[in-house]
Amino acid sequence: MLRTADVLRRTGGHNVKSIVFDEAAIAARVEELGREITAAYPDGDLLVLGLLKGSFIFLGDLVRKVERPLQVDFLVASSYGAGTTSSGRVDLLYDPATRLEGKHIVLVEDIVDTGNTLRRLLGTLTARAPASLSICALLDKVAMHAPMPEVRFVGFEAPTAFLVGYGLDHAEDFRHLPFIADLM
Ligand code: IMP
Repeated sequence: MLRTADVLRRTGGHNVKSIVFDEAAIAARVEELGREITAAYPDGDLLVLGLLKGSFIFLGDLVRKVERPLQVDFLVASSYGAGTTSSGRVDLLYDPATRLEGKHIVLVEDIVDTGNTLRRLLGTLTARAPASLSICALLDKVAMHAPMPEVRFVGFEAPTAFLVGYGLDHAEDFRHLPFIADLM
């Protein structure tokens, strides 16, 4: 367990309220998720698609625990309020170069809160005719959204706190923390 001094050194003096998931717990759960994904896709082409920036650490750890062939790409979605059409599609600021057609897609997200980001992306990605489309979220604030069947792989159910670390930020800070903390 990290001591307060270790946390402060990493955050530049900003203390966190508590460590919600420590490094060991995250590593153990990511390994299990890797096994779940390996078992879920016995055949076919698998493309793991990371939603930037929040998924970058999680995706890096996750794909090394998946024991079958796969490809990796990323996407960057426009922020809320911009680029939404009546069809629910979303503009992509970085569009994956890899073809999605006919492939099993696992979209990797850091945290599901209201689910709006994912709902908008699902329309855009489904239009590209993948063989299947599932979401793998490190954290899921299940209390904040209606059930989403596409969220097939979940690391942890998250409290309705503001969490940082392991990719999650607050105003671009704290992404590098090796643990997940409650900031407030
Ligand atoms: P949603 O569209 O409401 O599901 O929000 C999802 C996005 O909001 C995530 O990809 C994060 O970028 C951000 N977000 C939601 N909750 C948190 C949090 O607790 N910490 C950091 N970012 C969050």
